[in-house]
Amino acid sequence: MQRSKFYVTTPIYYVNDKPHIGHAYTTLLADVLARYYRLLGVPTHFLTGTDEHGQKVQQAAERAGITPQQHADRTVVRFQELWKKLEITNDDFIRTTEERHRAIVREVFRILYEKGEIYRSEYDGWYCVTCERFFMAKDLDNGACPDCKRPVDRIREANYFLRMSKYQEWLVQYIHEHPGFIQPDFRRNETLGFLRKPLTDLCVSRPKSRLSWGIELPFDKDFVAYVWCDALVNYISAVGYRSDEATFRKWWPASYHLIGKDILTTHTVYWPIMLKALDLPLPEAIFAHGWWLTGDAKMSKTTGNVVNPMEVADKYGVDPFRYFLMAEMVLGQDASFSEEAFVRRYNSDLANDLGNMLSRMMKMAGSHAGGVIPECGPLGDDETQLRDATLAAVATMQQSVDTMRLDLGLGAVADVVRQANKYFEKKQPWALAKQADKQPLFTVLYCAAETLRIVSGLLYPVMPGKMTELRKTLGLPAGAPDFNQLKQWGGLVAGTKMGDMQSLFPRIMADASTAPAATAAAVEVKAASAVIAPAPASPAATPAAATPPPSGIALIDYADFQKVQLRTAKVIEAVKVEGADKLLRLQVDVGGERRQIVAGIALSYAPEALIGKTVVVVANLKPAVIRKVESQGMLLAASVGKDLRIVTVDGDLPSGATVK
Ligand code: ME8
Ligand code: MG
Repeated sequence: MQRSKFYVTTPIYYVNDKPHIGHAYTTLLADVLARYYRLLGVPTHFLTGTDEHGQKVQQAAERAGITPQQHADRTVVRFQELWKKLEITNDDFIRTTEERHRAIVREVFRILYEKGEIYRSEYDGWYCVTCERFFMAKDLDNGACPDCKRPVDRIREANYFLRMSKYQEWLVQYIHEHPGFIQPDFRRNETLGFLRKPLTDLCVSRPKSRLSWGIELPFDKDFVAYVWCDALVNYISAVGYRSDEATFRKWWPASYHLIGKDILTTHTVYWPIMLKALDLPLPEAIFAHGWWLTGDAKMSKTTGNVVNPMEVADKYGVDPFRYFLMAEMVLGQDASFSEEAFVRRYNSDLANDLGNMLSRMMKMAGSHAGGVIPECGPLGDDETQLRDATLAAVATMQQSVDTMRLDLGLGAVADVVRQANKYFEKKQPWALAKQADKQPLFTVLYCAAETLRIVSGLLYPVMPGKMTELRKTLGLPAGAPDFNQLKQWGGLVAGTKMGDMQSLFPRIMADASTAPAATAAAVEVKAASAVIAPAPASPAATPAAATPPPSGIALIDYADFQKVQLRTAKVIEAVKVEGADKLLRLQVDVGGERRQIVAGIALSYAPEALIGKTVVVVANLKPAVIRKVESQGMLLAASVGKDLRIVTVDGDLPSGATVK
């Protein structure tokens, strides 16, 4: 897509919390996109910031015995320092306690009130302090908050309301007419699902008697603005709405609001309606990414399993951390963070492939080409193949930025680096170096170096520091690469002096905490339903749950193995099992026969991600009942610790094929 400008935002984070890798991820994603668009020469504006009003901040301040403003001033620094550390290139940082924002929130309320979009009414209902949301009695879950399950308070008071209900039909139609508005697709469906129930008008005020930490309403000094209506306005207040029309026209509407899936409704229902009521255009797209889990559990302060991004970046470096987060998460789906997975990906993609390619090429060029970029001779088949694959990766990367599948773009780059290593091995430059005619050797070195030039540009937005080092080593001029120059093979100029030999990504040696990941043998393949051993009574779960002894593994006869019938199966349907976070109920097709299988993979896979996949199942297992659901077989999955991946087949095979 040809863009004339790119305006990207992150959520503004609450200052009552320390930043963890979830916050780091959204901001990094915005940073990587912003950096790509800058390379493409597109005028770019990247906004992040902090959400500083509301009950949660007020309560956190009370606990700390300071004023809410003091509390916000203290905690905002943690975010700002983290963004600096992670080399985030935001163009602006907005705090909702700044006057430039407060003034615009008052302005928004004034306009909406004068237009009659906001009205006063008596409210009688229930309130959840944690979620800062009102509920009708019928919405409660056994008397508790339907979202966080915490106790709610009965509230009877006057308040101001935004006429949301009258926009319901308009919004549904808008979403249908703009398929890219809510991404990925399944999040659009989620919003449409929410909009199937009648919308109630939104309570947009809080009486000061209950909450004083907020922005006073311009038409009633006894009330402050509901924190979400205050926070969402940041996306326009920061770019000059009602204060600097030229700037506002330049950036609004936003190209992307990046958010986590937790705040989908506020962004895809409240915010569009607020904008519509203000007669403003809607953002082009709202993209909700998935959840970072620790192992298989949701990261939360209460369980104490949050990963501190500062610590990981300090231990392994900022760039590898940025790379891991971007490459590991299939955009839209959940992903799990573990140090093992980090080390595994680092060692394979960065140390063994990219770093190794560079050091091999530099070593040969240093001893046989005088440390300069050698002259490239005519390209043979292997060279043409490498060139074409590299240029194809440029196209894939550009497309992946467009379609928000950075993971695919990065995968394509990693493949090219692997291909370059294979090319090197095939050509055996060390043997070519012994020949009198140096041209064949020089061609190989040139092609490897040229591949690295293009790769360094493609990875620059993700690893700006390391790719700057790499580019320096290749003798390229300092500064950011120009994306157009990546689309053309032959950019390296023969005779250019190269830099010093670099060990760009030294291999991480396995220490005690990472030892299991370092050896492939530690990767176990077992039935997914057994990984979580759901029901001790289940005959299916018992045999597989018995892990083999680490040494002296009991050997089996071929005849024993033959008893197990492994078959390929195609997933037709996948849904969560009610009341079990880890279980999915799958309908699979095994060569025309339909089976239901319960698998403990819900923490690693979103149900919709499985549909259409060819998996491997144990087809002759006695049926078992897991959580009241019959499972007619088992799904195979590989796991290291809690990181779990299903076993699939390489290439296209019909379902029902025998696996042996
Ligand atoms: O909701 N995995 O702020 P917040 C991935 N102030 N992303 C995560 C995550 C995880 N485990 N945990 C948090 C608010 N995030 C409001 C926003 S916007 C007008 C107001 C990220 O501090 C993700 O982007 O709770 C999520 O949406 C956001 O942090 C929530 O941050
Ligand atoms: Mg939150």
